[in-house]
Amino acid sequence: MRFHASVAAAVLALCPLAAVAQTASAPPKTPHTLAPNSAPPQLVQGVAQTPPMGWNSWNFFAGKVTDQDIRNAADQIVTTGMKDAGYVYVNIDDTWEGDRDANGVLHANSKFPDMKALADYVHSRGLKLGIYSSPGPQTCARFAASLDHEVQDAQLYASWGIDYLKYDLCSFREAVMAAQAPNDKPAQMRLMVAAYDKMNKALKSTGRPIVYSFCQYGWDAVWEWGPNVGANLWRTTGDIKPNWQSIYSILNEQAGLAKYAGPGHWNDPDMLEVGNGRLTPAENRAHFSMWAMLAAPLLAGNDLPNMTPEVRAILTNRDVIAIDQDRFGHQATRAYSEGELDVWTRPLSGGAMAIAVINAGSDRYSTHPFHLSLAKLGLHGPLKGKDLWTGKEITLTDNMPIELASHDVLLVRIAAPK
Ligand code: GLA
Repeated sequence: MRFHASVAAAVLALCPLAAVAQTASAPPKTPHTLAPNSAPPQLVQGVAQTPPMGWNSWNFFAGKVTDQDIRNAADQIVTTGMKDAGYVYVNIDDTWEGDRDANGVLHANSKFPDMKALADYVHSRGLKLGIYSSPGPQTCARFAASLDHEVQDAQLYASWGIDYLKYDLCSFREAVMAAQAPNDKPAQMRLMVAAYDKMNKALKSTGRPIVYSFCQYGWDAVWEWGPNVGANLWRTTGDIKPNWQSIYSILNEQAGLAKYAGPGHWNDPDMLEVGNGRLTPAENRAHFSMWAMLAAPLLAGNDLPNMTPEVRAILTNRDVIAIDQDRFGHQATRAYSEGELDVWTRPLSGGAMAIAVINAGSDRYSTHPFHLSLAKLGLHGPLKGKDLWTGKEITLTDNMPIELASHDVLLVRIAAPK
């Protein structure tokens, strides 16, 4: 947590695509000419064929998470209908780690008395358990991490029944990259790639299907090399925060990354903040809609036992989840922006298409409404579709005025775009 500002600056400095990501995308391809994106041959496990869905402890509990919180989250995922809606992974983030014993075997700390029993519990609810480590000597919260114990740790996770690993760069940067290759950025990047590959091979050698999630904030255009060293998903940015500014700026950083996503390998704009902080209902809706448009992992990060019905309705909106989980795995592109409104489109299987219009402004567009140009999307009206938040039919006509509250979204699925 302590290096986020420097990471953000470093991402921009190190990664030329971060700059590309700020520019508008090319017009969308015609949906019916598209086939599913294929996975690189290195991703043989068949996990994460659609973006992983579940819950992670960090965004709400951070360093306070306990075994009981994980059990409660698993229970809630079942009883709130989230499991039926597709949420599967229950992921323990940082601060579960204890000490290594004389044989180098890592033990969980006192907050997690019996990890195998916890995994059994989560599995008994029909869910899967995720865990967290770092390639460095310490995690971001300064707990023991996997440096020089990769195979041992992977075996340990497999013996517990772990199904998902988030591997967070953290102290590897100072302890290995900066120490072994001072002032040599390309050599540092090679060390980083090798470290991710080392854990990849360790995980594969267990024979257990384990989703492999890279968390290195998008360094060195991870979307270009991550899948070749086993990444099923990779963070594209620094840490998300539960406020509009953070969510909207991360959204814009995803423009330009669509071509890197597909079954088995996804861009990860970070975990959901839906229901956290002071996000308004419109902001929660817009955040969830846009993560679905981005084919992002949908990892809720809120306090599930105290979730409001409104937040639950957002997280379990099946129509929106279906956009995220579309089997073709094509991520949305930003078609155009006008004033403070952005229009994103996502081609879907069966020749369908999703269109999202988002109002990033602080005012409602009523006196000077935004007019949606279907021509700019390569379409012409009238087009019948479904408004995925009202559940009602909507007809889009060319240049129709769209009135949206501040930070709200219009999300429409068109079955037969033309
Ligand atoms: C980094 C990651 C976060 C979280 C914390 C845990 O900041 O980006 O998602 O895992 O570490 O310490």
